[in-house]
Amino acid sequence: MDSLSSLWNAFNFMPEDQASTWAPAVDHLNTLITNAAIFCTVAIVGTMLYFAIRYRRRSEDQEIAYIEHNTILETVWTVIPSIICIFLFYFGFVTYHETRNPPANALEVNVTARKWAWTFQHTNGKTDEANLVVPLGQPVRLIMRSKDVLHSFFVPAMRIKEDVMANIYTFTWFNPVKLGTFHIFCAEYCGKDHSAMLGSVKVVTSEEYADYLHDRGAVADTRSPAEIGKELYTVKGCNACHSLDGSRLVGPSFKGLTGSIREFENGVPPQKADENYIRESILLSQAKVVKTYPAGAMPSFEGLITDDEIEAMIAFIKSQK
Ligand code: CUA
Repeated sequence: MDSLSSLWNAFNFMPEDQASTWAPAVDHLNTLITNAAIFCTVAIVGTMLYFAIRYRRRSEDQEIAYIEHNTILETVWTVIPSIICIFLFYFGFVTYHETRNPPANALEVNVTARKWAWTFQHTNGKTDEANLVVPLGQPVRLIMRSKDVLHSFFVPAMRIKEDVMANIYTFTWFNPVKLGTFHIFCAEYCGKDHSAMLGSVKVVTSEEYADYLHDRGAVADTRSPAEIGKELYTVKGCNACHSLDGSRLVGPSFKGLTGSIREFENGVPPQKADENYIRESILLSQAKVVKTYPAGAMPSFEGLITDDEIEAMIAFIKSQK
């Protein structure tokens, strides 16, 4: 049994640590596909070589057999691989679906990539360079953006890798099931120090996490992004058109906005209000006008608001449940 399993895993080059809930499923699928590919390569090339030698032409005047098609054989070699492909698709889809849909109770952390470092900001405003500290057994949703070029957030032990871009948020999530420190790499070539764009995921107990979160050190502004957003709400004049209590002003209320399905004027298809939707509504305010609201009423804030301020506004709007 042991030798069978070591044979099965002979070509499994995944990291030893399976630190997230879906790591075993990812590894299993990866091993299955790799082994199936090796088996087919050996079987097909082996048979081909054997036939080439066994049935080689032995003299200039040798008669060559005329072989017509064989319906049964061709049906078998089409149907069996198709069934295998459907199974691989099914297992791949189930795992992929899980990796794209974080649970509602996930902890949220903002990730900012720049040449050549990672910054992590927790919802209370705690900011950390290079270290993503998370509590064991708690799903973590990452909201990621780049300050410059394309990067890719890669944590092999968690089996997550997701591109990080400027001007749009990308998301990933994982549920850490193992205490310890795990490497973060940048997996997209981003310039001179790409290979030094490193960090760590530190999985700690919930007590250690609480201590970590509340130790803010010597920062000038200890407010959370949501609190900063609350101030911006009046400073930037959002309050003139957007209520917080659900009442209708010039624009839609912020209450219960996040996660709701928005319907739009001008035949724009409905969409769930996520971070990208809010960002777009601030910068390209005319792209999607909510149904029954006047077009042209919302000015564009392009150039009038920083990325950090947008993130604070998003945190504030999300807090208006
Ligand atoms: Cu960032 Cu490579």
